[in-house]
Amino acid sequence: MIYGLSTRLQTNDFADVAVTKVLVTDIENDFAVARSAGCILCILAHHAVDEETVIFPAAAKVGNRLITELIADHHDLTRRELEIAQSGHALLEMSSAEGRQEAGRRLNLLANELFAAYITHLNREERELVPLMQEHFTDPEMGAMQGKIIAQLPPDRMFAILGWMLPSLNVTELSHLMATLKQGAPPPALKAISDLGAARVDPARWTAVKLRVGL
Ligand SMILES: [Fe+2]
Repeated sequence: MIYGLSTRLQTNDFADVAVTKVLVTDIENDFAVARSAGCILCILAHHAVDEETVIFPAAAKVGNRLITELIADHHDLTRRELEIAQSGHALLEMSSAEGRQEAGRRLNLLANELFAAYITHLNREERELVPLMQEHFTDPEMGAMQGKIIAQLPPDRMFAILGWMLPSLNVTELSHLMATLKQGAPPPALKAISDLGAARVDPARWTAVKLRVGL
């Protein structure tokens, strides 16, 4: 998601109002109502909400200092996401192509700073939080947390996230996911997710998954 948005920002022609409007709409963040389930910054922002409501209360009991620092990161990331959304709107109000190009350059810098901070944060969660949780929680306990996060996702946001997640998985990971869904998901849900995979995943990779899982 971050790499894709970064590519779009760097190649966007900010002199062109129409294409810039599409880009800004896609990254728009509306924290009050999250009106666009697919909005990229909204999905990044929900990372913090999901962790802070489901994972962190339990994890803080075994790693309070780490969790305190990760929450501080979330606040910093939220501040950066809001600034980017506001900068995008201000950019669209500009009447001159030169003004938008300069504002677009600054928007790129802000976004790159967010992406660097975000990836550093995610890496720290993988490097420090995941081993801490594996040490203190059982697989069923962590599975229950995962289930709680998935259960509180509205279906449209779930599909927006899957639209990013499916093309980012390798064949083994995708096959495991689809095999699990094939066993337990209602047929309409399996079909909807299979259709999404066919549309979003690299065709050669998706064909390999279908063969392995028998879709
Ligand atoms: Fe986080």
